[in-house]
Amino acid sequence: MNRSGYCNEIREGHIGQRVTVCGWVNRRRDHGGVIFIDLRDRSGMVQAVFSPERQPEVHRQAHELRSEYVVRLVGEVARRPQETENPKLPTGMIEIHVDSLEVLNVAQFLPFQLDEEGVGESTRLQHRFLDLRRPEMQHNLQFRHRVTQTVRRTLDEAGFLEIETPMLTRSTPEGARDYLVPSRVNPGQFYALPQSPQLFKQLLMIGGYDRYFQVARCFRDEDLRADRQPEFTQIDLEMSFVVADDVMAVAEQVMGKIFEEALKQSLPLPLPRLTYNEAISRYGLDAPDLRIPLELTDLTAVMRHTGFKVFAQAANQSGNRGGRGLVKALRVPGGAQMTRKQIDDYTEFVAIYGAKGLAWIKLNGPWQEEGWQSPIVKFFSPEEKEAIVAATGAQTGDILFFGADRASIVNESLGRLRVKIGRELNLLNGTPFSFVWVTDFPLLDWDNEARRHVAVHHPFTAPVLADLQRLDNTAMAEESHLDEVRSQAYDLVLNGTEIGGGSIRIHDPALQQKMLALLGIEAAEAEEKFGFLLRALEFGAPPHGGLAFGLDRLVAILLGVDSIRDVIAFPKTQKAGCVLTQAPSSVDPLQLRELHLRSTYQPKG
Ligand code: AMO
Ligand code: AMP
Repeated sequence: MNRSGYCNEIREGHIGQRVTVCGWVNRRRDHGGVIFIDLRDRSGMVQAVFSPERQPEVHRQAHELRSEYVVRLVGEVARRPQETENPKLPTGMIEIHVDSLEVLNVAQFLPFQLDEEGVGESTRLQHRFLDLRRPEMQHNLQFRHRVTQTVRRTLDEAGFLEIETPMLTRSTPEGARDYLVPSRVNPGQFYALPQSPQLFKQLLMIGGYDRYFQVARCFRDEDLRADRQPEFTQIDLEMSFVVADDVMAVAEQVMGKIFEEALKQSLPLPLPRLTYNEAISRYGLDAPDLRIPLELTDLTAVMRHTGFKVFAQAANQSGNRGGRGLVKALRVPGGAQMTRKQIDDYTEFVAIYGAKGLAWIKLNGPWQEEGWQSPIVKFFSPEEKEAIVAATGAQTGDILFFGADRASIVNESLGRLRVKIGRELNLLNGTPFSFVWVTDFPLLDWDNEARRHVAVHHPFTAPVLADLQRLDNTAMAEESHLDEVRSQAYDLVLNGTEIGGGSIRIHDPALQQKMLALLGIEAAEAEEKFGFLLRALEFGAPPHGGLAFGLDRLVAILLGVDSIRDVIAFPKTQKAGCVLTQAPSSVDPLQLRELHLRSTYQPKG
């Protein structure tokens, strides 16, 4: 027999039985004659004991064992002597008394010890095959497997078909740059790796495969962060003859099963919802972290006539959605204790998001008794002070932070500050997982640099038809009205991170044409890029919609790890490289010639 089972399966019930186990030597300890090893495999660890009395030859052999040697051993399961049990290990009550030992392979001295603290990530990634042996990584990837299998089974049982879509394809616009692949047999032409299966899943609906899903790899060439990788995995799904509520219900069903099976918890359904406008107004961001009990307060109306010019100017600035002026406050209960240094750090922090300053008031006592400490309080009239208190509910002991600028800047900077303060000051409400659907997104966003509208979700997302009709009755071209059109899109947010998003799609070819036109995509360009979709829509496209979860993000948050790199077997670094395989790399000139390519890159220096 090769082995009787995994190390961590052995329990007190096996006492007296002979077992064969295989694995890695986690550690060898010599205790005056007796040698102990912790044998480790993907399941966990078990203690093996070599005593000179039991098998002198095997005991001699055991002296040669080093960390990470690969061994197979046969022995008898025994109860550990009293006082030597380890209640922290599931196998901590037993040990194996070894009768035979086979060294299957040896290992060099390791570049780092698996349980060593503070090993740099780049060292760990360079030796990822060792890093993956760590119990934490084993746990993360096995948990990820559980989640994926639960999703597959739940969707299968709900009648979804798993269908694969191409990797070598045409650009799918999800807002990032494409990874391109040159075609050898079509000189000068390129495939794009999919940013998502979006267009193919819509074609599948037109092809009659109502209820599709895929565990889909997606590729996006964008700036990387802790929650972004150049290739990542989506749980992608699409359904026909549905409205948004149907898609959201399936997503909740999947999430409920994941909680039940992977986390052994129940998830109260349905999940709460917020409209986009409410999310922005109360939390400043479209992916609010609802574990943080702080909210923003709009003071624009209150500040129209104030003596503080910065505020008055913002309060009177007109414009469209993100461009109009806004004055908002963030109240932090108990924050009057904050140091000057903390406030300066926060001021630097909001500057990242374009804020030109961060005004503040410390409420050390009632304003009537000169209790407000602030660089700007001298500008406020008694009525304005009253109005600030009434609107924010501020009390003695609190600090108020203020943002005054274009709405987009005020919301983003105070929204991010809310999250930073909430997490740093440990104000989280104690709920480990806080979900919220954000609905009624705007259809379009104005891109100031490109001087045109862009789709907030993607160009195939259906508008709220009532809004569109209203638009048709007003001046079509007027930007401010276009900004008011909502889309039938929804995002699922978990602990302040967008873990999924989707929409009802446009299935009317004329409306799709119109949408592309609104995005400033000329008819010829539309035909060139999306002609195949526009054509397909003309041949009986059913109404349809769907959504995609970011699997890596979801798993990372459920596990409570900081980066999605910790739930991906072979992740890329910040510079989109793989330090293990040294990808990307230069290639043989011959290969380039076959592809009809020449690099214009000149290394500096
Ligand atoms: P979207 O672009 O919102 O929608 O992507 C869906 C989810 O994928 C995750 N995600 C990422 N995860 C890791 N690294 C990245 N670079 C990355 N980019 C996105 C996010 C996000 O919520 N086709 C649509 C879905 C649809 O409309 O059905 C789409 O791709 O968690
Ligand atoms: P100043 O009048 O520039 O000395 O600024 C007075 C206070 O207002 C300082 O605390 C600034 O950080 C703050 N401040 C300046 N501009 C803004 C702004 N646009 N939004 C919020 N606070 C600001």
